[in-house]
Amino acid sequence: MNGIDWPNLSFGYMKTDYNVRSYYKDGKWSTPTETTSENIDIHMAATCLHYGQEAFEGLKAFKGKDGKIRIFRMRDNALRMQASCRGIMMAELPVEVFEETVTKAVKLNERFVPPYESGASLYIRPLLIGTSAQVGVKPANEYLFLVFVTPVGPYFKEGFKPTPVAILRGFDRAAPLGTGTIKIGGNYAASLTAGHIAHEKGYSAVLYLDAKEKKYLDECGPANFFGIKNNTYITPLSSSILPSITNNSLMQLAEDMGIKVERRQVAEDELATFEEAGQVGTAAVISPILRVDDIDENKSYIISKDGNAGPISTKLYNKLRGIQLGDEPDTHNWVTILE
Ligand code: PLP
Ligand code: COI
Repeated sequence: MNGIDWPNLSFGYMKTDYNVRSYYKDGKWSTPTETTSENIDIHMAATCLHYGQEAFEGLKAFKGKDGKIRIFRMRDNALRMQASCRGIMMAELPVEVFEETVTKAVKLNERFVPPYESGASLYIRPLLIGTSAQVGVKPANEYLFLVFVTPVGPYFKEGFKPTPVAILRGFDRAAPLGTGTIKIGGNYAASLTAGHIAHEKGYSAVLYLDAKEKKYLDECGPANFFGIKNNTYITPLSSSILPSITNNSLMQLAEDMGIKVERRQVAEDELATFEEAGQVGTAAVISPILRVDDIDENKSYIISKDGNAGPISTKLYNKLRGIQLGDEPDTHNWVTILE
């Protein structure tokens, strides 16, 4: 169908049939409506273009063995987008409008939801931007919320095979009291140079240290970090990282499996003690880490001795995918099944 090579999709943009939009004007959000246009027409002085009034989300829909489409933790993404809006003074989008727009975008593009066996999924990208003109540094009065979807394969081409990540001490992604905890474009702009350098050197991502002390692990460019040792799932607590919904899910699943969970500061040195580690996020799912190189300090922490994902990462990955696909019971009510 569609002539799409589902099993070999990469993580990229593919045109689909529709996107869905809601406009904020005079204090109200409009009823979400679909369009086939891939373009947006906004004022040249729109605040999103000048002052970074832009937030986005990322979530996924999956087709199950039963042919049903499941959206994973949509409400949590809606709530996080509200936090992003508050963070940069944009009009807050009601959860119901978020859910209605996402649902509509998925249904209208149903033929792009990858089949169960393909290993691919439908990536959903909600976007909220300030559209009205300001020249002084002030929030806009008008906003656009838009949802497009695109079928995707793994974010890192290696998929579930461990990849090396780099610590680059010359770069910070977010400040402790800055915008690292919300999902706004500026954070990603701030990560582009370091990300490019890391990719050029053969790393899948940058593992950022906390910006203040340069001692504790923060997160990776597009994903949170976790490490495993002594049957314990350990993930950094920090005021400059994104509260990942995938990481939150994995902490819950680990606990369900009888694995201890610790959310606390993780000093870089502790990398030497981890039996397994990974990057976690909607796009990354779980991407196991092979090795962490602190390039400026000339230090290397080998995580995967045999080049394969470890047993706990594998168990967590299978459980998470199982719930997303509907193969495992959705005991935490994370999944919305489309009617
Ligand atoms: N951290 C960053 C910087 C991200 O961009 C993402 C992706 O959304 C994550 C973590 C993972 O968050 P989530 O699991 O909610 O997708
Ligand atoms: C996601 O995992 O949804 C992300 O937003 C990460 C990246 C594509 C920016």
